[in-house]
Amino acid sequence: MASRSPLLNVMTAAALKAAKGLIRDFGELEQLQVSKKGPADFVSRADRRAEDVLRAELSRARPGYGLLMEESGTHSGTDTSNRWIVDPLDGTTNFLHGIPHFSISIALERDGEPFAGVIYSPIDDEMFVAERGAGAFLNGRRLRVSARRRVDESLFATGVPFLGLPDHGLSVRQLRDVMAVSSGIRRYGSAALDLAWVAAGRYDGYWENGLNPWDIAAGIVLVREAGGQVSDLAGGRRMFFGDGILATNTLLHEDLMTLVRLTPAERQAAAAERQAAAS
Ligand code: IPD
Ligand code: CA
Ligand code: CA
Repeated sequence: MASRSPLLNVMTAAALKAAKGLIRDFGELEQLQVSKKGPADFVSRADRRAEDVLRAELSRARPGYGLLMEESGTHSGTDTSNRWIVDPLDGTTNFLHGIPHFSISIALERDGEPFAGVIYSPIDDEMFVAERGAGAFLNGRRLRVSARRRVDESLFATGVPFLGLPDHGLSVRQLRDVMAVSSGIRRYGSAALDLAWVAAGRYDGYWENGLNPWDIAAGIVLVREAGGQVSDLAGGRRMFFGDGILATNTLLHEDLMTLVRLTPAERQAAAAERQAAAS
């Protein structure tokens, strides 16, 4: 097992500490399903508590670093090169429904680029870590993306929008085109774990429209360090700016991109939909 760097030690220690609370809260959900108020409030409290733990731990270890956190937003730091990007609970809907597939995602962005990533799945006790130039690991075991070259033999993951989110028509079109030519599609509900599973070679590729930096920053490092390729849906670098994400074992990148990239008409429709939602 490779020894972890001080940076990855800080990140994994923070993830383990926050996970303790999430595991306890996940266990309590069963009783709460029958309570009058329902579990939604409870889950958002669990989410915020996990974020508080992560913020405290990361800030204590690296006091000057800024933070971008899903629940509490941006906290600027004195060190302008380093910023933590954190999703305290990725897979909230799964958590709420008692489905044991959710994760904590912590990335360090250095000089504007994802530099290190930790994604922890508390129920499976799977700790995915990667640091630029040092490889990707799962519980200490080196990770490598899959070696599949043929789309018809490949298994892909994605995420689809739900009530209140844009891109429904686009997602249906992408699903139809990929399902017709591949070995299958999974929609498991945690973007961070989808990326970690591409790094682990479980999925051959993954795409999703319009995610936020905290969903994907850690996973980007994992996939790249495992030998995979990450881009936006058009092959560019605008993953943090709403242009979607495409992550593959590299061999399948062009083929999957051809299937999921937006046509000019879809691009126009998506922009109009998002503008309407924002106004
Ligand atoms: C969500 C999950 C899901 C993806 C959604 C994300 P959350 O994050 O990653 O897989 O499809 O778009 O928002 O809300 O559970 O942190
Ligand atoms: Ca998320
Ligand atoms: Ca979240």
